[in-house]
Amino acid sequence: MCGIMGYIGAKETQKVLTKGLGKLEYRGYDSIGIALHDGTALQYNKTEGRLQDLEEKLEQEPLTGSVGIGHTRWATHGKPSDENSHPHMDAKKEFAVVHNGIIENYLEIKRDLEEAGYTFVSETDTEVISHLFSRLYDGDMVSTIQKVVDRLEGAYALGVVSQHDPDNLYAVREASPLIIGAGDGEALISSDIPALLEHTRDIYILEDGEMAILSEENVKLLETNTGKEVSRDLFTVDWDMEQAEKNGFDHFMLKEIFEQPTALQKTMTGRLDENAKRVDFDELNWTDVQISQWNKITIVACGTAYHAGLIGKHVIEEMTRIPVDVEVASEFRYRRPIVDENTLVIVVSQSGETADTLAALRQSQHLGANVLAITNVVGSSIAREADEVILTMAGPEIAVASTKAYTTQVLSFYLLGIYLAQSKKSVSQEYREKLIDTLSHIPEQIEEILDHSKGIRYYSESIKDAKSVFFIGRGLDYAVSLEGSLKLKEISYIHSEAYAAGELKHGTLALIEEGTPMVSLITQDEVSEKMLANIKEVKARGAKVLGIAEEGNLDIWEYVDETCFIPQTLSLVTPLLNVIPLQLIAYYTSLALGNDVDKPRNLAKSVTVE
Ligand code: G6P
Repeated sequence: MCGIMGYIGAKETQKVLTKGLGKLEYRGYDSIGIALHDGTALQYNKTEGRLQDLEEKLEQEPLTGSVGIGHTRWATHGKPSDENSHPHMDAKKEFAVVHNGIIENYLEIKRDLEEAGYTFVSETDTEVISHLFSRLYDGDMVSTIQKVVDRLEGAYALGVVSQHDPDNLYAVREASPLIIGAGDGEALISSDIPALLEHTRDIYILEDGEMAILSEENVKLLETNTGKEVSRDLFTVDWDMEQAEKNGFDHFMLKEIFEQPTALQKTMTGRLDENAKRVDFDELNWTDVQISQWNKITIVACGTAYHAGLIGKHVIEEMTRIPVDVEVASEFRYRRPIVDENTLVIVVSQSGETADTLAALRQSQHLGANVLAITNVVGSSIAREADEVILTMAGPEIAVASTKAYTTQVLSFYLLGIYLAQSKKSVSQEYREKLIDTLSHIPEQIEEILDHSKGIRYYSESIKDAKSVFFIGRGLDYAVSLEGSLKLKEISYIHSEAYAAGELKHGTLALIEEGTPMVSLITQDEVSEKMLANIKEVKARGAKVLGIAEEGNLDIWEYVDETCFIPQTLSLVTPLLNVIPLQLIAYYTSLALGNDVDKPRNLAKSVTVE
């Protein structure tokens, strides 16, 4: 959370920074600010609120200069306010600092600085950094950065501009993402790629423990501790601006929902071979012997990625009969997980930067496990540190509520399940072939659902004033219900719960009143009779039921108030289809309520702090 942007070059710096921050608003949006060196002094403008608020202020007091930094904040230390917004400066206004992450020992540093006479104007952890710069400045920025960093504990990505050295822009990274764009006669820093694309596709990924010195002419990467220069290959981004823009859709979320057929196709391409009826992962380096030694698989993730992991459990267990646990990363990392060299740990993360998931990865490696990452971001911390990586090909996901990242993660689990089953010969060739064939039709089946989504819009408008909305299902349908419920609460702010339908009698039935909306998934053949019995129970108590079922299941008409049909597929594969109406319900309900769909209150896209 929090987005950093920095620029040095001949373009209009204020504009480059504000435009870039607009692309980073998914990371934080409760306050925003920029600081530029105007050739004489450092000037800043910052405010509680969003980009528009800053732009209004800048219209009155524009900033000029050829070097500057900017920040969009998601509050952790201190409420959103003008004072707590970044950039933070020292009292003499010689250093401007933007920060993403958390300085864990900031109170101790703050006390020392206060004793030495420094006065603080904000409640943030970041302000200690600007005062430290002022206190420790020794005439050389590199050695001053080393001294400052030496005092800091925690996670930080920093952008720094100094009055003493306005021909350079400095960046520092320790456990928070930061990338460098190397343009022609200009250079940039940013927390994410979309903010750079307008200027350059050539980027350096700064690693933990490194700093960078950017000037108009070049970019130098150094080991922070030693000051030794590091050589790093440029990474060229191969997706374009259009992919990172709304492309005619009202919201990124809707665009991303509609991008799912393409994203899934891309995730399959080169991996799922329809002719040879095989799954190949050229990127995986496991041997059959290694695979045969795993007696347990543990999936660790947060949020939506955790829900993808729940589907992964069903799929991998079905395909390999290896027992699979799924755990949220923030729980996993603080207990003594039973993981060793015979465990495969799979971490799932869209951003590849989620702090808890990254910590779980490191802990698992420490315990001797082989760690596979399923992630969407090349060069992210999780992609770099995992032993093996499957990249989901979702492209940039901007809306906070994850959609295409989820389905590509789920698809990756199907591909992985088949891949492991090929190695272990744990299911018949015929079954594998059937599965491969079924998966290859999923993109066009999703298109079909999207083409007929009007009914879902009407349904969503009808539930917008509900006090609570419940989602029920059994087996894989229950796992998908959890995701549907999360989606709805994230962006509509309506209370929602998902229940394993068989558990209703153990508590939730008490909450059903006349008219309570209940979304019921009925796509698991083996338990569909049981589901119908559960639906009768809730109907008898007044629930208004939307049934999501496969085409041709006409029996459900008798049981539900409204229906949404998905194309027929194998029971094991239904999650890839039946989550689509649930995503649309969340979207259209949020829209009907007039909420900010892409940037829901209190939430951030990338959670890089615990
Ligand atoms: C945040 C996002 C969710 C996401 C979760 C995990 O809560 O809002 O959409 O599922 O983080 O993020 P990751 O990047 O690790 O998948």
